[in-house]
Amino acid sequence: MIEFRNVEKSLGGRKVLDHLSFHVKEGETFILVGPSGTGKSVTLSHIIGLMRPDAGSVTVDGLHVETMRRKELESLRRRTGMLFQGGALMNWMNIYDNVALPLRECSRLTEEEIRRKVLEILVFLELEESMHKMPGEISGGMVKRAGLARAVVCEPKIMLYDEPTSGLDPVMSRKIDGLIDLLKRKFRMTSVVVTHDLVSALNIGDTVAMLYEGRVIECAPPDQFVNSGNPLVREFITAQFHTRKAGDL
Ligand SMILES: Nc1ncnc2c1ncn2[C@@H]1O[C@H](COP(=O)(O)OP(=O)(O)OP(=O)(O)O)[C@@H](O)[C@H]1O
Ligand SMILES: [Mg+2]
Repeated sequence: MIEFRNVEKSLGGRKVLDHLSFHVKEGETFILVGPSGTGKSVTLSHIIGLMRPDAGSVTVDGLHVETMRRKELESLRRRTGMLFQGGALMNWMNIYDNVALPLRECSRLTEEEIRRKVLEILVFLELEESMHKMPGEISGGMVKRAGLARAVVCEPKIMLYDEPTSGLDPVMSRKIDGLIDLLKRKFRMTSVVVTHDLVSALNIGDTVAMLYEGRVIECAPPDQFVNSGNPLVREFITAQFHTRKAGDL
């Protein structure tokens, strides 16, 4: 469904993606982990053509994203939902209208049908009591969940999630994992999930890949990933369980 072949991308004079290659199968949940600044968000931007590679190719559903024209890009973006790292809500609209907007734009549903769909997802994400509030009036975790509701409401074929559980408490994080998994089973959705949350990665991933300095250094099913012999992967895994004492820093 998604394939990166030898993708290179430099930004601000620095090589961010360095011969990056991986593929995501239809209907799978593909997890991308890796240190901060290693190119995870930049990778997601390439999938919907917000950035173009300097070299190499990115294909989605057999189509080359790097050479797409505006109309093709618009069609790709309609079929692809994206949860941006910061949530990305319209600050001048309340939560209900933010979530309803994609349905008003991409479907021919009546307002009543839209209302039913929007309420269903808002109730699931425990946002129904805040639906008349503006994005500036709710907590960071709620903004995140509202961004998620907005991204998935049109039931896209492909969902890209940039850190869906960061800033959420563990109970809500597991609930988001459940939602990602539910969407996969219900709609055979293909998902790419960028996360620092190992529990989430192991819970929902069919494949876990670790990005390091712009390339994939490990790519395996979760049970093999956790047993990887690569020292950088080991360090990433053990860091999740060890808290340093202030004196060690
Ligand atoms: N639009 C841009 N212009 C210039 N540099 C950029 C741009 N976007 C990203 N970068 C740089 O590319 C590198 C990778 O950024 P990216 O956002 O992909 O990291 P990340 O792996 O998502 O990190 P994090 O876990 O902190 O979100 C960083 O050095 C960043 O400063
Ligand atoms: Mg990022």
